[in-house]
This record gives sequence, structure tokens and C-alpha cells, in this order.
Amino acid sequence: MRIIVLKDRKAVCAAAAKRVAVFVEKDKRAVLGLATGGTMTGVYEILADKYRRGSLNFSHVTSFNLDEYCGLAQGHKCGYNYYMYHNFFRHINIREKNRHIPPASGKNSGDACAAYEKKIRRAGGIGLQLLGIGTNGHIAFNEPGSSFCSRTRRVKLAEETLKSNSRYFPRCAKLPCYAVTMGIGTILEAGELLLLACGNKKAAAVEAAVKGPVTTDMPASILQLHPKATLILDRQAAGKLKTHNWKF
Ligand code: F6R
Repeated sequence: MRIIVLKDRKAVCAAAAKRVAVFVEKDKRAVLGLATGGTMTGVYEILADKYRRGSLNFSHVTSFNLDEYCGLAQGHKCGYNYYMYHNFFRHINIREKNRHIPPASGKNSGDACAAYEKKIRRAGGIGLQLLGIGTNGHIAFNEPGSSFCSRTRRVKLAEETLKSNSRYFPRCAKLPCYAVTMGIGTILEAGELLLLACGNKKAAAVEAAVKGPVTTDMPASILQLHPKATLILDRQAAGKLKTHNWKF
């Protein structure tokens, strides 16, 4: 597990965008795993800017998102379909047929989730996966207690996640209690993992994920066992690591 600590969120997003850009440039059939949430918007802004300036092309890229809420109306402003389109997809030239969001509408049947997994495999597997981390250590919506072998499936969101994500839902919109998420087993199959964390609210989860035991109680701790996992943290998120050996 490689850990990079940078000054602030701006620097974290810039470093992550740089890694994504190199991956997209080098890999002729780049398969990206994408995340949503507040941390990621800065990364997408920088990548969209690179595309606008003509320095990055996404026409050969295939993407798979980590998760989507269940029960939201099509095009709901708090859904991750909307988030991805407005923050990223509409600004770049990724093909519509190449972008994928987990199947959270309809009955969320096991078949639709299995089909999502199949699409990932058919695309050749995810080369680079972006990840955020919840204050409870979740990755994607794999909440504490999720099996390390889990695959794409419907899950119940933890109380802490509901509380934390209510900030993204205006009063008029009810935060769904269920979501469809890629599993930890699915995520671990990606060639490279890039986890971003910013702000002191993430410091305890980052400390437990990096220094604690590898346990399903702290889903992000499994990154300790991935051969190519990098954490890019701002100083606040790294605040409890108490070491001076990281790269600033
Ligand atoms: C979203 C996702 C979540 C978030 C995490 C952090 O696709 O997978 O695991 O990455 O909840 O969210 P923010 O960045 O909003 O703190």
C-alpha cells in the first residue's frame, strides 16, 4: 500500500487526475472504475479541463461506476447517473455505450447485478479503480461487515452513511436506504486502486484502514492486501497516521 500525503484537496484531486490521465493515454482499451461523492468532483473537473484543452481523449475509454442508489426516479438530481453525467460525462468524449452505472432501477435482481459483473469481465476487467472512503470505512457502498468476496449486489446503507450522505439530499428528497454496489471482491480484481480521502472527518477511518487489522469491520483495510493500492490523502485525512515518512 503506497501512501501519498499532499497539502490539500486541490492537490489530492490534481494528483489523482494526473494518474488517471496517464492511464487513459497509455492504455488503448482503458477500463476505468469511477466513484462519486464530494471528494471526486475535483478530479472530474481537472480531467474535463484536460479534454477541453485537447490534451486528453476518452473515445477509447470504458467506465464502470461503483454504485447507485435504489428507488430514485430516472434522472433524479441526487442519483449517481445524474452526478456522473453532469460532473463528467457531458464534458468529455466518452461514448455513451461505454459508460456503465450499476443497475439500481427496477427490481435490482441478482440477474442484473450478475450482468454488470459480466460486462466488466467482457471489457477486460477494470484497469484503474477510483475509490473514496466513508467515515465508517466503507468503499463503494460496501458497509462494515461486507464480505471481502462480495460481488455487485443490492445492499442496505449503514446509519452512518445515511447521516453523512444526507448533506447531498435537499430536504425535499428522501435519501434511499438501499443501493446497488460493486462488491469488495469485484473491486479487488482491478489492476490498480486509487483511494482518495480529504478532511479530518476521514482521519479515523484512514488510520484504521492503514494501521489496523485487515477486517470486514473496516472494509477499506483490505487495500493493505492489494498489490497496487495507493492512498492519496490531504494532511487532515492523514492527521492520525503520525508519521513523517510519507511523501508530501
Ligand atoms: C461513491 C462511493 C462512496 C464514497 C464515499 C466518500 O461512489 O463509492 O464510497 O466514495 O462515501 O464520499 P465523499 O467523497 O462524499 O465523502
